[in-house]
Amino acid sequence: MEDRKKDHIDLAFSSRTDQSMVDNRFEYEPLLGTHQNKDISFSLAGKKMTLPIWVSSMTGGTQRAGLINRNLAQACAEFGMGMGLGSCRILLDSPEYFDDFNVRPIMGNDVPLFANIGICQLEQMLDDKSTDKLDELVHKLQADGMVVHINPMQEAFQPEGDLLKTPAIELLQQFIETTELKLIVKEVGQGFGKESLRQLLQMPFESIEFGALGGTNFSLVELNRSKPLAAEVYNPFIHIGHTADNMTLTINALLKDLNARDVNVKSLIISGGISSLLDGYYLTQVSELPALFGMGSAFLRHSMGKYDKLQEYVQNLSNGLQLANNFLRIKAD
Ligand SMILES: Cc1cc2nc3c(=O)[nH]c(=O)nc-3n(C[C@H](O)[C@H](O)[C@H](O)COP(=O)(O)O)c2cc1C
Repeated sequence: MEDRKKDHIDLAFSSRTDQSMVDNRFEYEPLLGTHQNKDISFSLAGKKMTLPIWVSSMTGGTQRAGLINRNLAQACAEFGMGMGLGSCRILLDSPEYFDDFNVRPIMGNDVPLFANIGICQLEQMLDDKSTDKLDELVHKLQADGMVVHINPMQEAFQPEGDLLKTPAIELLQQFIETTELKLIVKEVGQGFGKESLRQLLQMPFESIEFGALGGTNFSLVELNRSKPLAAEVYNPFIHIGHTADNMTLTINALLKDLNARDVNVKSLIISGGISSLLDGYYLTQVSELPALFGMGSAFLRHSMGKYDKLQEYVQNLSNGLQLANNFLRIKAD
């Protein structure tokens, strides 16, 4: 007790807040909440997540990926989160990497797990009529469905990238007509504009994952790998796109325009640049469609070493989300 009182005196001067930093998105209601955990669970693909946070699709097929995926899967099992695997393309040609992706035995069956494939690979498979390989993959991974990532900018900037011959929306429509798989569609760091969202909302996806602008941007990752001249010319493209705030509001506006029965998407995974849980919490509360939030790089940062570090991070996220849910209300406009 004496130490604590001494700390208070020592730390008081360095613990003053700046009035210009007030977060005006919330009403803080200290009288109205408790510290008791509430049920904040979220259903996706028929599975229940007790902690409504999504581990965005990341890695596989390199030596470090196995450890990262196993850590992430363990956190999903312990805290009740869902997870998208990184692109599983490599597994179609090189099954020796299967163990890097084989996280279901660690995650258990209660939480959602999605495999992942790029739209350009899907185009090739639709052309060859070999999309049944994706069903096999999902089955082998004991996943609940498939994430299709839409990344035309990234592919264009990648020296070895694949180029689309058909617009992605038509490929998705063709795929929906041929598959029974549950599908999530996502971008990889630049989000989706209004017309893309309008069309996606009317298709039967489990979820649209934003992969919005403002966080990791895979077009920039590719530019950083490319030759200096290409990087110089293409650089302005990496600032094009839509933030998670912008996309949430656009979707809310589209829901007003669209007939309720034309909206076939069940939920949103708000991701891309969500670096604080309050950003994620805020947008899930503002969203008119049921929504959870997802993070990529924030999880990656804590999952490269021992599990304890990731465990502590996710425990804090979980406690923080309960605090937000108990004591914060979204401010009316
Ligand atoms: C190391 C790394 C690898 C990624 N690989 C994939 C991938 O294979 N497929 C995919 O759909 N997205 C991939 N992403 C994008 C993420 O799913 C997510 O959209 C992006 O990281 C934005 O989230 P963030 O700002 O929280 O990092 C990757 C992201 C990272 C950081």
